[in-house]
This record gives sequence, structure tokens and C-alpha cells, in this order.
Amino acid sequence: MQIVLILHNLLRWAVLLFGLWTLLNSLTGYFGKRNFTANDNRSNLFFMITCDIQLLLGLVLYFSNGWFSRLKDLGNNMKDPYTRFFTMEHLTMMLLAWVLVHIGRASVKRATTDNAKHKKMLIFFGLAIILILASIPWPFREAIARPWFRIN
Ligand code: HEM
Repeated sequence: MQIVLILHNLLRWAVLLFGLWTLLNSLTGYFGKRNFTANDNRSNLFFMITCDIQLLLGLVLYFSNGWFSRLKDLGNNMKDPYTRFFTMEHLTMMLLAWVLVHIGRASVKRATTDNAKHKKMLIFFGLAIILILASIPWPFREAIARPWFRIN
């Protein structure tokens, strides 16, 4: 399971990279009133794909590393911030972000004007990135700290 944890740790940087690329494209596209290009489509497609893989790895960790089974003793586990974060908060917020990314991509496709596409991109992907940034167990978040880079 350690290899899955290492991948889940490192893939976060790809998620953030593609997320920020998408955000940058939506900002320059919307405020610069430029056309919606293949580059815009590519950035949010890569963002969605990395989120999909991250969800898959996360689910494997959730069920294999004993987080799911801790839901049985919900009362006691909720009192501990570390267990609460990994059994409930991380999962819920990241799932929400994943749903926003998927709804976002579908509504960008459906939008009929380039400006509307950039606007949808900005709203849905912007919200998803905020949720993701807020729900990562960064090393500076004392109670739930995990390393910047895990290599073993
Ligand atoms: C974009 C989405 C996500 C990002 C950026 C992300 C990021 C991270 C990071 C950085 C860690 C710490 C890894 C380490 O200790 O080295 C972690 C741990 C974890 N994540 Fe995620 N995660 C995401 C989505 C999910 C989802 C959707 C789930 C569950 C379905 C999940 C389940 C877990 C679990 C269970 C752990 C703790 C693993 C363990 O120590 O046993 N993650 N996540």
C-alpha cells in the first residue's frame, strides 16, 4: 500500500499544476475576451484526468488502510482531529471537488459562446481548486500534517 500512498502524495502536484494552468487559462480567456482554444480544452481535460486517478488511488487507500472501518466507531473517532480528517473531511471535500470538475467540464462543453465557456471554467474549476487546496494535509497543518514529497 506504500506505493499507492507515494503515488497519491506525488500526483497532488500534477493535480495542482493542471488546476492552476486551467485557472490561468480561464482568467486570461474570460477577462481578455479571447477565443476558446484547444489549449483551454487540453488544460481542463488534463486536470480532470489527474483528479480521476487521484480519486481512484484515494479510494484504494481509504478502504485498504483502515480508514473506512473506523467509521464504525464514529463517535470516538470524530473527537480526534487526525482520524476525523482522513475518515470524513478529506474524502468529502475531495469528492465534492471531483464532482465540480466533472460538472464543470460538461457545462464548458455545453456552453455556446467562447466567453460563456471561459466563465464556466473559471467558476467550476476555480471552486474545485479552492476545495482541493483547503483539503490537502499540508505539512504546516499541525494536526494532520503529511510530507510535501513522499519517496518511501
Ligand atoms: C484532488 C484530490 C486529492 C488530493 C490532491 C489528495 C491529496 C492527498 C495527500 C497529499 C495525502 C497525504 C499523502 C501522504 O501521507 O504522503 C492524502 C492522503 C489520503 N487521501 Fe487524498 N487526495 C485527494 C483525493 C482523495 C480522495 C477522493 C480520497 C478518498 C476517496 C482520498 C483519500 C485519502 C486517504 C485515505 C489518505 C490517507 C492515506 C493513509 O495514510 O492511509 N484522497 N491525500
